[in-house]
Amino acid sequence: MKLLVTVLVTLIPLLPSAWGSEASRTCIFQTLSKPDHEFCRGGLEVIYPEVGDVSCSYIPKCHGFRQKLSGEWGQPRVRYPHAKKSKKYVLVMVDPDSPNRANPQHRFWRHWLVTDILGSDLKVGKIRGKVLTNYSRPKPPRYSGYHRYQFRLYRQPPHEAIALSTEDQESLGTWNLKDFVEDFDLGHPVASTQFLTKSYKD
Ligand SMILES: *[C@@H]1O[C@H](CO)[C@@H](O)[C@H](O)[C@H]1NC(C)=O
Repeated sequence: MKLLVTVLVTLIPLLPSAWGSEASRTCIFQTLSKPDHEFCRGGLEVIYPEVGDVSCSYIPKCHGFRQKLSGEWGQPRVRYPHAKKSKKYVLVMVDPDSPNRANPQHRFWRHWLVTDILGSDLKVGKIRGKVLTNYSRPKPPRYSGYHRYQFRLYRQPPHEAIALSTEDQESLGTWNLKDFVEDFDLGHPVASTQFLTKSYKD
């Protein structure tokens, strides 16, 4: 996928006049630009089987990819090649741009939360462990612009039983991620990445 994108990006400037007609046939996973790119650290991969690794990319509208992401695809594989086999990890997926990036009153929207993931599973992208919040698909509302979908991977401190408060369990929105990280001593993510998408109807 990465190679294909590189080849396409290299070819596009060579086709200025053909671009208009090519656009409908070319489907590019554009890499995020500077500030958003900096969130991608540690080599974390987010893999939706139909399209491969989408980390640090925009999900393109072509081929119905945004629509499939919102309505069809299940939870992605999340791979961390540098995981330590016998250690445990916590995976958090959140949308910081709820309801929109300019005015994110509901930051963070919790999309997925799994603890006790074994490093040996992470190495092959298999996310299983203690599911505190089931995966819910990114469904950015119409006219709310691009949303970031962030994946943060933490090393889980030994002997630490992690749970959501009753209050947090009741709501996915306005989740205080900072408190959660502090309460359970998770420290800084060992790796993080994100992809961006917006409503497929826009
Ligand atoms: C996640 O989904 C499964 C299957 O639908 C369900 O049994 C489980 O209770 C859910 N877990 C949470 C934390 O909501």
